[in-house]
Amino acid sequence: MKTIKPFMLLVAVAAVSALPAIWGCAPKKAEPVRAVQIADGDIEPANWGKAFPTQFEMWKKTEQPETPGKSRYKKGFDADKITYDKLSEYPYMALLFNGWGFGIEYNEPKGHANMVRDQLEVDSSRIKAGGVCLTCKTPYAPKLEKEMGAAYYKTPFKEVLAKIPENHKTLGVACIDCHNNQDLSLKISREFTLGAALKDMGVDRAKLSRQDMRSLVCAQCHVTYNIPKDQDMKSVGVFFPWQGSKWGTISIENIIKKIRSDPAYGEWKQSVTGFKLGFIRHPEFELFSNNSVHWKAAASCADCHMPYTRVGAFKASDHRVMSPLKGDMKACTQCHPEKAEWLREQVTAIQDRTASLMLRSGYATATVAKLFETVHAQQAQGKTIDKALYDRAKDFYEEAFYRCVFIGAENSVGFHNPTEAMRVLGDAIAFAAKSEALLRQALAKAGVDVPLTVNLELNKYVDQRGEKKIKFDPKIEIKDPYGVQVRF
Ligand code: HEC
Ligand code: HEC
Ligand code: HEC
Ligand code: HEC
Repeated sequence: MKTIKPFMLLVAVAAVSALPAIWGCAPKKAEPVRAVQIADGDIEPANWGKAFPTQFEMWKKTEQPETPGKSRYKKGFDADKITYDKLSEYPYMALLFNGWGFGIEYNEPKGHANMVRDQLEVDSSRIKAGGVCLTCKTPYAPKLEKEMGAAYYKTPFKEVLAKIPENHKTLGVACIDCHNNQDLSLKISREFTLGAALKDMGVDRAKLSRQDMRSLVCAQCHVTYNIPKDQDMKSVGVFFPWQGSKWGTISIENIIKKIRSDPAYGEWKQSVTGFKLGFIRHPEFELFSNNSVHWKAAASCADCHMPYTRVGAFKASDHRVMSPLKGDMKACTQCHPEKAEWLREQVTAIQDRTASLMLRSGYATATVAKLFETVHAQQAQGKTIDKALYDRAKDFYEEAFYRCVFIGAENSVGFHNPTEAMRVLGDAIAFAAKSEALLRQALAKAGVDVPLTVNLELNKYVDQRGEKKIKFDPKIEIKDPYGVQVRF
C-alpha cells in the first residue's frame, strides 16, 4: 500500500519542480467535523446536510450543467443543451456495438445527481440486464442486493426500482455511499462488488491508507464490471474482472483473460460478426491505478475531482464532483506551480493523441468485423474457409476489440495514464492488422476477391438508432486532430 502522506507528496513535488510556489498549497485547516448524530443507515442526504451544510450544498450542485467551452472532449454535461452521444462522436463504436443497448444509445457522462434520471431516459435496451443495473446508481443497491439475493440481479429494472421509497427513486450517489455515519470517515459501501474484488486480489484492507480510500470510494462505480448470464441470458451476478491482477497493476491483459475464460461472461451478440462477447465499462480506476505517474505520485481521484476549496475561514472538499477542467484547473495547481492554461493545454495534448489512436484502432477493428461478415456470408454460400486462419483471426479480433472498448469507455481520453493508454491502443492496432491479414489470406485461399477498401456501411449503424430513432450528429463527430485517419 502507498505510505506517502499528502504532506510528503508536497515535498516531493516541490523537489522535482524546484519552485517555491508549490508551498502555497500547504493544506489549510479543515473545518472541524462536528459531533452530530446521523442515524445508522440514514440515506437521506438532507439529514446529513443538517450537520454538514457546506458539503451538502456542493453535492447538490452536481445536478447543475457546467459552463461550456472548458473541455474539448468531455462536454457531456455542458450547459449548451447538446446531447454528446458517443456513437456520433465515434461512429466506429456504433458498428462495433450494434446488437445491444450500447450500440443504440451511449452518452457522455453527466453530473452525479443525474445518474438514475438518465437511466430512466435512456433507450430501454440499456437496462435490460435487470436490477443489477442499479448497482452503481442508487445508495439502495447494497440493501436491495442483501434483501433480494439472486433475484436482485435479474428482476426487471423497473420492478427493483419500485422497491425504493418514492422520494428516493432518482437519488444518485449519496453521503452514505462514501461515508461512515459515525465519524464521516471514508467507507466502502459496496462490499458485494468492490469488497469482493479487493479480496480476489488479496488486498489487506487494514493496510489501506486514507489516500487509497480517497480513490476507492470512487472505485465502487468507476470500474469495469461483468454481468454473468445463465442459459437463458438472465443476469446471475456482477463482478469486477480483477482476478489475477495485483493492487497497482490491474492490467488489460488480465481483464481480457478473465472475460474470455467463460462463455457465461458473454453478455451480448455482436450483430456484424455474430460473436458472443463480453464488455468493458468506464475503467477509470483500473487505468489510473495501473502504474500511472499520478498514482505513483500518490495522487487520488479526490485530489483532482474534489479539490479543497475555501469556504469562509475553512476549507472543504469540493463535493461538486466534476472535470478539473471545468473547475479551471484549481485541483492541479494544488500541486503544480504551472499556470492553469499551461496545464489545460497539457491535458488537451494528451487527449488529442489518444483520440487519434482511438480512431485508428477503432476503424481497424471495425474493418475486421466487416471482413468477418463477408467470411460468414461466403460460408453460407458454401465456400470453405481455412479453419486455422479463421480461428487465429477471431482470437486476434477479440483481443483488438476489448482493447478498443477499454480506452474508449475510460472517461479521461487517456489523461489518467497517457503512456498506458497509448500502449493499449497500439496493441489494438497490431491485433486488428494481423487479424485483417489472416482473413484476407483465408478469403483469397477460398477464391474470394476482397476489395482494397472495405465498405463499413456506417450509416446503417449510426443513424436511426432504437426506439427514439436517434440520428447521427455529424457536428459532434470527433475527427483525427492530426488528419491521419482520413488516409486509411
Ligand atoms: C455510486 C456510484 C458512483 C460513485 C461512488 C462515484 N461515481 Fe462518479 N459517476 C457515476 C455515474 C453513474 C456517473 C454518470 C452519471 C450520468 O451520466 O448520469 C458519474 C459521473 C462522474 C463524473 C462526470 C461528472 C460530470 O459533471 O460530467 C465524474 C468526474 C465522476 N463521476 C467522478 C467521480 C469521483 C472522483 C468519485 C469518487 C470521489 C465518484 N465519481 C464516485 C457513479 C459514481
Ligand atoms: C491527476 C488528476 C486526476 C486524477 C488523479 C484522476 N482524474 Fe479523472 N480526470 C482528470 C482529467 C484531467 C480528466 C479529463 C477532463 C476533461 O477532459 O474535461 C478526467 C476525467 C475524468 C472523468 C470524466 C469527466 C467528465 O466530465 O466526463 C471521470 C468520470 C473521472 N475522471 C474519474 C476519475 C476517477 C474515478 C479517478 C480515480 C480512479 C480519477 N478520475 C483520477 C484528472 C484526474
Ligand atoms: C462519492 C463519494 C462521496 C460522497 C457521495 C460524499 N462525500 Fe463527503 N467526502 C468524500 C471524500 C473523498 C472526502 C475527503 C475525505 C478525506 O480526505 O479523508 C469527503 C469529505 C467530507 C467531509 C470532511 C470535510 C471535507 O470537506 O473534506 C465531510 C464533512 C463530508 N465529506 C460530508 C459529506 C456529505 C454531507 C455528503 C452528502 C451530502 C457527502 N460528504 C457525500 C467523498 C464523498
Ligand atoms: C497530488 C498532487 C498532484 C495533483 C493534484 C496533480 N498532479 Fe500532475 N503530477 C504530480 C506529480 C508528483 C507528477 C510527477 C512529477 C512531475 O512531473 O512534476 C505529475 C505529473 C504531471 C504531468 C506529466 C506526466 C504525465 O502524466 O503526462 C502532467 C501533464 C500533469 N501532472 C498534469 C496535471 C494536471 C492537468 C492536473 C490536474 C487535473 C494534475 N497534474 C494534478 C502531482 C499532481
